[in-house]
Amino acid sequence: MSNARILIVDDETPTRELCSDILDEEGYETHKVAGAREALHELTLNPYHIVLSDIQMPEMDGVALLKEIRKTHPDVEVILMTAYAGLPSAIEAVRHEAYDYLPKPLTRDGLLNTIRRCYEKIELRRKLKESQNKLIEQEKLAAVGAVSAWLSHRMRNSLSVILMCAHYLQQKAVPAASGDLKEVIDAILAKVKNLEHITSDLITYSRRYDIQKTPQNMNVILDETLQSLNSQFQLQKLTVVKKYDPKLPEIPADPHVMHEAFENVFINIFQAVGKQENQTVTIKSEVVRDYLAKPPADPFGVLNLAKDQKPVAAVSLSISNTGSVISEENRGKIFTPFFTTKEDGSGLGLAIVKKIVEDHGGEIFAESSEEGEPNTTTIRIVFPLS
Ligand SMILES: Nc1ncnc2c1ncn2[C@@H]1O[C@H](COP(=O)(O)OP(=O)(O)O)[C@@H](O)[C@H]1O
Ligand SMILES: [Mg+2]
Repeated sequence: MSNARILIVDDETPTRELCSDILDEEGYETHKVAGAREALHELTLNPYHIVLSDIQMPEMDGVALLKEIRKTHPDVEVILMTAYAGLPSAIEAVRHEAYDYLPKPLTRDGLLNTIRRCYEKIELRRKLKESQNKLIEQEKLAAVGAVSAWLSHRMRNSLSVILMCAHYLQQKAVPAASGDLKEVIDAILAKVKNLEHITSDLITYSRRYDIQKTPQNMNVILDETLQSLNSQFQLQKLTVVKKYDPKLPEIPADPHVMHEAFENVFINIFQAVGKQENQTVTIKSEVVRDYLAKPPADPFGVLNLAKDQKPVAAVSLSISNTGSVISEENRGKIFTPFFTTKEDGSGLGLAIVKKIVEDHGGEIFAESSEEGEPNTTTIRIVFPLS
């Protein structure tokens, strides 16, 4: 059933064996020790969800073990067992927050029920913590978004003034100036242009879209984007291979916003390919029949939505290029805002693309060749057809 890890602590071998036999058979991972000190040592070596311990043990008893675990491993649940079901030890156990108290002799059902409930509690707590962390992360991003929107709007005006001044200097001063001065002005121009690019990405990322969806053929939007970037494709001598499905169904989309998304993907390709020659960009559109769409958002992560997933038809677009790879480690990060491997990158291009794709009900993935294969990178965008 589950992979809960349970540490069994008892000085009597038969009880240890009985517990581990019952629990192993149910698919739990167990480990046995004969005393409390050994248990504390084992807890420093390996992770456990539950400690199942006898109370009466020589040297250090189960209640002392419980007290110690509460201090050192607050997330580990402790279940105590005893043959002398006396009130005082039960009260002690409860007072120090044992999860439960099992009388000996143990019954199979009694043990399994208690362990099951205990593990459910642990899982629920973990999921709650996960969703809490997710919410904190989202709030952080929203705060960053608000600050960057404010900052970038203010920066943009100053930057255009600096840019104008640098252009002016370049035109007026450079023809007569020394090599040094020319270099300085060129450096100012390059850096200001880069800052302009970053601020414009920040503004795009933090703006509120007003999406106007109408039925659109993605082949057409891809073609329009290719057309607008034609000079850059020619400059880098990139071969474009189109594998369009001529019968691609229309989907509701905002053509301007979608154009912007595709543009960001192509700009990354231009930058990744750089000066390499004989590289190819392949653009493919197709209808896939058995796409498993992402289940709807489940903020508390406690519902099992996966089993309700049904394969659906979807429009799939993939944009591949040769001449670059994304390491496996980075593949999971490239859609995160501010992640960049470029010295002057904003790290927002693909975050913007992801946001646009998700606002259209789609999903985006990155795939890349493995070591030993020819270098290729693919960005795949899928829009389920409802
Ligand atoms: N076609 C590609 N080939 C290789 N790496 C890519 C490609 N597209 C994106 N990347 C990686 O994804 C990162 C994030 O891209 P992006 O969000 O557009 O930010 P930026 O372009 O500012 O770095 C890039 O820094 C790069 O490492
Ligand atoms: Mg980019």
